[in-house]
Amino acid sequence: MPVSVRSFAKINLGLYIGPLRRSGFHELRTIYQTIALSDTIKVTVTAGAGIEIRCQDPQVPADESNTCWRVADRVLRSLQRHGKVTIQIEKKLPVQGGLGAASSNAVATMAALERELGEALAPADRLSIASAVGSDLPLFLLGGTVLGIGRGEEVFPLADLPEAPLVIVSPTTGVSTPKAFADWDELARQSPELTGPDGTARIDGFSRSVFSWLTGSIAGVPAISGNRAEKVATTPLLDFVRAGIENDFERVVFPQYPELREVKRGLERQGAQYASLSGSGSTLFGVFESGEAAQQAADRMSADGYRAVVTRTVSRKEYWEQLFV
Ligand code: C5P
Repeated sequence: MPVSVRSFAKINLGLYIGPLRRSGFHELRTIYQTIALSDTIKVTVTAGAGIEIRCQDPQVPADESNTCWRVADRVLRSLQRHGKVTIQIEKKLPVQGGLGAASSNAVATMAALERELGEALAPADRLSIASAVGSDLPLFLLGGTVLGIGRGEEVFPLADLPEAPLVIVSPTTGVSTPKAFADWDELARQSPELTGPDGTARIDGFSRSVFSWLTGSIAGVPAISGNRAEKVATTPLLDFVRAGIENDFERVVFPQYPELREVKRGLERQGAQYASLSGSGSTLFGVFESGEAAQQAADRMSADGYRAVVTRTVSRKEYWEQLFV
């Protein structure tokens, strides 16, 4: 029997791009949030050698470039184990969609392989394998609401935001993340006010937004006004996004793919209290007041020809409870 693991998707609640570092990566600030859409990863280990990827989706590579392959290879070497590893990816999440699917699939592979081998990696080894394979993997070692800094791979668990209904729209447009970063660099060269003299203007903007949010919602810390305190207590996610958070990728992705800006406007027209690109896209999400409002919006967007689904945020507790299928 293979070990089956749910591979949840994420969205980014704000994403601020800082300076390009010598490593070729940009300094980032983001808040990741896991959501209730998932792929399934099934792993078996038998006698023999090699790593085999099976996936019906032709867009998913089956060779060593696959993030699952790369993680499995590192796990075997780290645990000094041998065998033939077969990884089956049952795909529902969009490929290159900004939902972190490839990263999540890879971390799910790690969890499944450890269980299949009956041997656990040290937590620090999990993190170093995950961050070596990609900036968006480590968040899936935590799940729930996660602060990401560095190139996105330094992750810190935040107090989980209460469950919120979401509509996810996945356009067929594919956006290349490295190209979106390169476009950002070009834009920043032309608009020095975006980066400030030391390149950290966006990072400072993120800190200000998060600070405004946290000082309004931490129990015992006086909020700016009574009304605000009341609103914070009931809708922490909305209060956070309303603190002025943005996704910097929108500034370079929307001018190139105006249809994605239209999706954001469509979500807002359908009553989203906040709508944004996730990662570098092309997926967009809207936060809704209720499950019914989200369902109505998704129905209307689907009638307009969009791939729109209703989902919700997944807390860290639920993430771990549901990980093994
Ligand atoms: O780490 P990951 O594989 O997701 O990164 C893909 C590419 O995105 C990198 O090679 C780099 O060009 C770009 N990137 C970046 N800054 C980051 C994360 C990724 O420039 N913080």
